[in-house]
Amino acid sequence: MSYETLRLERSGAVANIFLHRPEKLNALNLTLQTEIIEVVDVLSTDEGVKVLVFAGSDGRAFAAGADIAEFAARSVEQQQAFMSGRRMYDVVYDCPKPTIAAVHGYCLGGGCELALSCDIRIADRTARFGQPEIRLGLIPGGGGTQRLARLVGQGQALRMTLTGDQIDAEEAFRIGLVELLVDEGTLLDRARELAERIERWSLGSLRRAKQAIRCAWEQPLSEGLETERGLFLAAFESEEGRRGVRAFVERDRGEASG
Ligand code: COA
Repeated sequence: MSYETLRLERSGAVANIFLHRPEKLNALNLTLQTEIIEVVDVLSTDEGVKVLVFAGSDGRAFAAGADIAEFAARSVEQQQAFMSGRRMYDVVYDCPKPTIAAVHGYCLGGGCELALSCDIRIADRTARFGQPEIRLGLIPGGGGTQRLARLVGQGQALRMTLTGDQIDAEEAFRIGLVELLVDEGTLLDRARELAERIERWSLGSLRRAKQAIRCAWEQPLSEGLETERGLFLAAFESEEGRRGVRAFVERDRGEASG
């Protein structure tokens, strides 16, 4: 499949998805959002892919937000229809496979919301995060008000959203918006190392682990614990669960007798 606004590179079981609208700092226009949905759909069912890494192909940005020029050209009805359809942010969030956002440069508005839709965020020291929608008289509409508040807490989410100010990579790391902070020039290598630490495990195990942790956001504790129990038992009876436990026990026996 070929894409106009994306570059897709496969490296073993890791798929690197580069947002590619360099002349617009990877602003998420309709084409880019549609292509992200398409590529996530394809990769979600590709048995050869275990981890998806999103990055900007541009030297200055992960993504500088939803495309403001498209906002300007859309009627209220058109925007309503657009927001009622299948949404890129939710498609990425719902991807059954682990997703990583590798952030270099601007990560603003919809770009920040895309990073928030991923499971893990790794950033280099050039990264700048923000929800600047308030400067346009808007608010975040790609899940930012919900996912940012859940990730960094209400106070920090309100500070970022009410001021519209950008924060640098160190601060993003300190408040928990970024899980890994790396030096400039090492981002893609470090993202690949992280992806490779994950892709060693079976798809079933990864999917169950992700689903269980997500419940911590989405369900009250008692329901989340019930979901975890069900997923643990599914893992327990899965082929990889049986095999993994048996291999450990047999290794110990082998060591004892050897
Ligand atoms: N939507 C549409 N186009 C965008 C964009 C966006 N969110 N962000 C950047 N661009 C475009 C600019 O219009 C410009 O296009 P042009 O060269 O055809 O005029 C190009 O990308 C480069 O951006 P520019 O503003 O010239 O770069 P800069 O270094 O001066 O500023 C930013 C960088 C990120 C601070 C600035 O582009 C900006 O504030 N972008 C909007 C961020 C935002 O509000 N995002 C939330 C949207 S809801």
